[in-house]
Amino acid sequence: MKANVFLGKNQIEVQDVPKPRAGVGEAVIRVTLTTICGTDLHILRGEYPVAQGLVIGHEPVGVIEELGEGVVGYDIGDRVLVGAITPCGQCSACWSGHSSQCGHGGGFEALGGWRFGNTINGAQAEFLKVPYAQANLAKIPNELSDEQVVLLADIASTGFSGAESAGIKIGDSVVVFAQGPIGLCATAGAKLLGASLIIGVDGDQNRLAMSKRMGADIVLDYRDVDVVAEVKKITGGGADVTIEALGTQQTFEYALRCLRPAGTLSSLGVYSGKLQIPYEAFAAGLGDHKIVTTLCPGGKERMRRLMEVVRHGRVDLRPLLTHTFSLDSIGDAYDLFGERMDGVLKVAIKP
Ligand SMILES: NC(=O)c1ccc[n+]([C@@H]2O[C@H](COP(=O)([O-])OP(=O)(O)OC[C@H]3O[C@@H](n4cnc5c(N)ncnc54)[C@H](O)[C@@H]3O)[C@@H](O)[C@H]2O)c1
Ligand SMILES: [Zn+2]
Ligand SMILES: [Zn+2]
Repeated sequence: MKANVFLGKNQIEVQDVPKPRAGVGEAVIRVTLTTICGTDLHILRGEYPVAQGLVIGHEPVGVIEELGEGVVGYDIGDRVLVGAITPCGQCSACWSGHSSQCGHGGGFEALGGWRFGNTINGAQAEFLKVPYAQANLAKIPNELSDEQVVLLADIASTGFSGAESAGIKIGDSVVVFAQGPIGLCATAGAKLLGASLIIGVDGDQNRLAMSKRMGADIVLDYRDVDVVAEVKKITGGGADVTIEALGTQQTFEYALRCLRPAGTLSSLGVYSGKLQIPYEAFAAGLGDHKIVTTLCPGGKERMRRLMEVVRHGRVDLRPLLTHTFSLDSIGDAYDLFGERMDGVLKVAIKP
């Protein structure tokens, strides 16, 4: 089969590799649609280490090709969505409700639930082996297209979780820092949860326009305005919730400075190097602030719920899929996505 293989820093290539077979408890799907994540760019640039020779990608939609022993309730040919995170559904982390932290050390080492394109072969391929298939194959309702569900595997699950982890309540004011794909989904999530005022912050006019489409009431260009002063003015002193969706010192700090005492900062970005908490904005540790972090939730029940949100018209993510490529030309898709050219938000890859 054809697959996009990581060969080393700044080197990926579509190669012929052996087609996977389903072992006990596993399934193989024929991938019909996938995409590229910002995290894949970190991998390509050598900023997040994975093994040479690994097939990358973690956002699969497909059709069941083979079912391993012990996987019940599915048929060959079923259309399925599989989350980027594939919890086992059995370990102590999973049973404690922290299934994204499944795996390594039974939940005592972070990130274990992220397997595709990280510790096992991923979704930018013609076929994909799904581990713990019983816990991870989510059947797609007939009326939903691949394009309607593909972004639920990662960015929508992540973005919505940023809003959910913050415990947004009806009437809350919310600021979302960065309106990339993740931040846009956090904006949509805040809207779904009943925020009364949503402020989207970015420096890209296309993305600020999309922010409004996804639910922001006000958008701020961080290059033009003093975001902290502006948010304090609009909210009368600070927001109930701020969501960080970039992963930099600056946006984390702004998120804290824009927060009212006892507010919640929900962090989604992946940081590199040191992250510091500014002492005054943190009220010397006495501000009753909450800081929460979330790794994308996965598993079939999460995917089922997200598909219901789409099926009942609560959210439409198709506008975020701005370009389409074949698997053979995935290198061009990486260039476009990596350089953020031509107004790209997410690319659809059709194996
Ligand atoms: N927590 C998780 O499970 C999870 C999952 C997937 C991705 N991520 C992380 O989420 C982050 C965002 O991903 P993405 O794909 O949306 O990113 P992206 O790179 O596509 O978008 C980033 C956006 O930030 C904007 N920006 C840059 N500087 C800014 C500033 N100072 N203030 C406001 N906006 C600014 C850019 O204009 C751009 O629109 C990344 O760190 C990614 O690794 C986390
Ligand atoms: Zn991702
Ligand atoms: Zn587990």
